[in-house]
Amino acid sequence: MHVRRVELTDFRSYERVAVDLDPGVSVLVGQNGMGKTNLVEALGYVATLDSHRVATDAPLVRVGASSAVIRCAIAHDGRELLVELEIVPGRANRARLNRSPVRRPREVLGALRMVLFAPEDLELVRGDPSERRRYLDDLLVARQPRYAGVRADYDRVVKQRNALLRTAYLTRKVGGTRGQDLSTLAVWDQHLAYHGAELLAGRLELAAALGPHLTKAYDAVAAGRSAAVIGYASRLGESLPTDRSALEAMILESLAERRAAEIERGTTLVGPHRDDLSLQLGELPTKGYASHGESWSFALALRLAAYDLLRSDGIEPVLALDDVFAELDTDRRERLAALVSDAAQLLVTCAVPEDVPAGLRGARYDVGTGAVTRVS
Ligand SMILES: Nc1ncnc2c1ncn2[C@@H]1O[C@H](COP(=O)(O)OP(=O)(O)OP(=O)(O)O)[C@@H](O)[C@H]1O
Ligand SMILES: [Mg+2]
Repeated sequence: MHVRRVELTDFRSYERVAVDLDPGVSVLVGQNGMGKTNLVEALGYVATLDSHRVATDAPLVRVGASSAVIRCAIAHDGRELLVELEIVPGRANRARLNRSPVRRPREVLGALRMVLFAPEDLELVRGDPSERRRYLDDLLVARQPRYAGVRADYDRVVKQRNALLRTAYLTRKVGGTRGQDLSTLAVWDQHLAYHGAELLAGRLELAAALGPHLTKAYDAVAAGRSAAVIGYASRLGESLPTDRSALEAMILESLAERRAAEIERGTTLVGPHRDDLSLQLGELPTKGYASHGESWSFALALRLAAYDLLRSDGIEPVLALDDVFAELDTDRRERLAALVSDAAQLLVTCAVPEDVPAGLRGARYDVGTGAVTRVS
């Protein structure tokens, strides 16, 4: 798969830009702040409906404009898909696929499969569990787009269940009774267990499938002295069944056990929204032990593992490496280049072109103020 053309209108710093791309390697060169990351961020948005840099849409719209549009033509298996997204902060996005409006923007997920590694990904290792859950869930959706629905259903149930618990909590605080306002909680327990088990089963299967790809990727980029290992860390228990209905029963049981605590705290304490991915180098957890370089290599390995896994599914995703080579010594640059040079499409951004190994020859684009120009 490859992005054949991307057009941005009022996206980030771009008033209007159109970039035609070829399969193979494209290197985007530009000084700091010129819009290299903005461009790959737009593609990432098409792939995940989310930005790797910000949680809300407002910063994605050019200052002074009211909405942003991303149009992206994706070539795959001799066919072409045109995805158009309009981002209007505070409102639902509008999406079109091959010029026809779709009912929900998430119906365009799967059209572009892309793995993006960016400096912000250090947070995958250093940041909150939510970063790692998002990593897993985005990959789940990239592999099987139907998980976008599973994820949305689960999020909705948690939100509504939390609202119920919160209202009861607040009512109780002002001296009301607790019994009647929680009468629908049992129904929400069923929904939470049902959708939670589906999401959890997907994540468990994914974490297991990723393991060998991660170890291999870390070894390749870091020439690791220790092996990189991931595990799925759930509060439900250490070793979980992969069977969906067994997980559903476990969630229901755990909900019954934690009921008093949930009512006391006014929030949902059970379910995959509380889980994490445990990351280890050899015997040691990365958190609190890994050096900066090790953490960075681990984050890169997580992305490369995702890329490798998608490839092994037969999908051939687009790979984008934002500002990666500047962080690496010559030896590691060469290793990484060897690993990714045969990507169906590889987008590399850099401020200093000499940082990109000679092995990664391809098209070169200059990114200047508001414009992207192909120079070779
Ligand atoms: N919503 C927006 N409206 C206008 N300009 C914006 C908006 N969001 C970001 N910018 C501008 O875009 C520029 C950042 O672009 P980007 O992050 O793509 O730079 P870059 O080329 O990747 O730089 P670096 O090499 O430092 O990573 C900044 O100058 C920023 O002020
Ligand atoms: Mg950048």
